[in-house]
Amino acid sequence: TDPLRLGIAGLGTVGTGVVRIIRQKAKLLEARAGRPITISAVSARSKGKDRGVSLADYAWENDPVALARRDDVDVFVELVGGDEGPAKDAVEAAIAAGKDVVTANKALLAHHGHALALAAEEAGRVIRFEAAVAGGIPVVKALTEGLAGNDMTRVMGVMNGTCNYILTRMQSAGLPYAEVFQEASDLGYLEADPQLDVGGIDAAHKLAILAAIAFGTQVDFGGVEMEGIGSITIEDINHAADMGYRIKLLGVAQMTGRGLEQRMTPCLVPSNSPLGTLEGGTNMVVLEGDSVEQVVLRGPGAGMGPTASAVMSDVMDIARGVRLPTFGRPATSLAAARPAASGTP
Ligand code: HSE
Repeated sequence: TDPLRLGIAGLGTVGTGVVRIIRQKAKLLEARAGRPITISAVSARSKGKDRGVSLADYAWENDPVALARRDDVDVFVELVGGDEGPAKDAVEAAIAAGKDVVTANKALLAHHGHALALAAEEAGRVIRFEAAVAGGIPVVKALTEGLAGNDMTRVMGVMNGTCNYILTRMQSAGLPYAEVFQEASDLGYLEADPQLDVGGIDAAHKLAILAAIAFGTQVDFGGVEMEGIGSITIEDINHAADMGYRIKLLGVAQMTGRGLEQRMTPCLVPSNSPLGTLEGGTNMVVLEGDSVEQVVLRGPGAGMGPTASAVMSDVMDIARGVRLPTFGRPATSLAAARPAASGTP
C-alpha cells in the first residue's frame, strides 16, 4: 500500500519529537495504520542546528510554503506556530494544493479556525489539531468522537501548564509571583511572548477551540472573558488555602440563554477537588454532557513527547482514512458564536 508522506514545517521541540517517533516506531505505526508513514521533506529556521536526530533522509525546504506545495507531500504538518505569517500562509497553501493538514497551532485556530475549516471543507481536505489543546491529553478526540452522542453542557479546565506551575509553586515554596515567574522562564516553560501564558491568552485560545466543538459555533476567541495571573499575590493564595481553596487559572465554556459564555480567569476551586489537586505543569479538562454526565481528563499539557504524541494521533487518523470535519461538524453548519447585536449603533 501507498505510504502516507509527511512534510513537517518547524523542527523545535514538537517537530523533533514527531521525527523521533516516526523513525523509532516505523514498524508499529505501519502495523497500526496499515501503511507506512514516511517523511518526504522538512523545513525550519536553522538547517545546521543539532537536534539529536538525523534529517539526512529528508529533503530540506527553507520556506514552509514551498514545503506545503511539494508533490511528494500528502500531509502538511505545521509546527511553526503563530497566528499570522508563515504558519498561516503555509496552511492556506497546503489546503489550496490539496493536502491534508495537521497542526499544533492553537493561536492560528483560535483566530482563523473558521475560515480555515471552510477552506478545507471546500477543498475536500481535513485539518486536524489534537496537539493544539492540552498537549498530550486526547481531548479533541474525546469531545469530537467519544462524546459525539452528547448534548454538551459545559467544558472547563486548566489548560496552561505554565500558569499552573507558577500558582502551585508560589503556594508550595511560599515564593512571590515575580520570583516564580523567573524560575519558569529559566526552566524554559514560557512561550516566546510570556504574556500569552500569564495573561491567559494561550489558555483562552484552547478554550475557544473546545467551545466551538462542544457547542457547534464558530470559534470566537474575541468572546472569551479573560484575566491573567499576574496580579495574584502570595497573600491571595494563602487566604484561599486557609478557607480550603486553591487559585487556578480556570477556563469555563457553557451555552446560556444569552449565548455562548467563555471565561478564562483565576478561580477558587476546593483544595481536595480534582482541579484543586492539580500540581505543576499538568493540565486537566472536564467535559460535561447530558448523557455521559462528567468526564475528567488529566495529563501533560506540553513537552516533546506528549505534544508529539498528540500530533501522531492525527497523522494516524489520516493514514487510516479517518476524515472528520474540523470542528466536529460541517464548517458551513457552524453558527456565529454571539447573537447578532440588536438595533443599529
Ligand atoms: N505554554 C503552554 C503551556 C504550552 O504552558 O501550557 C502548551 O500549549
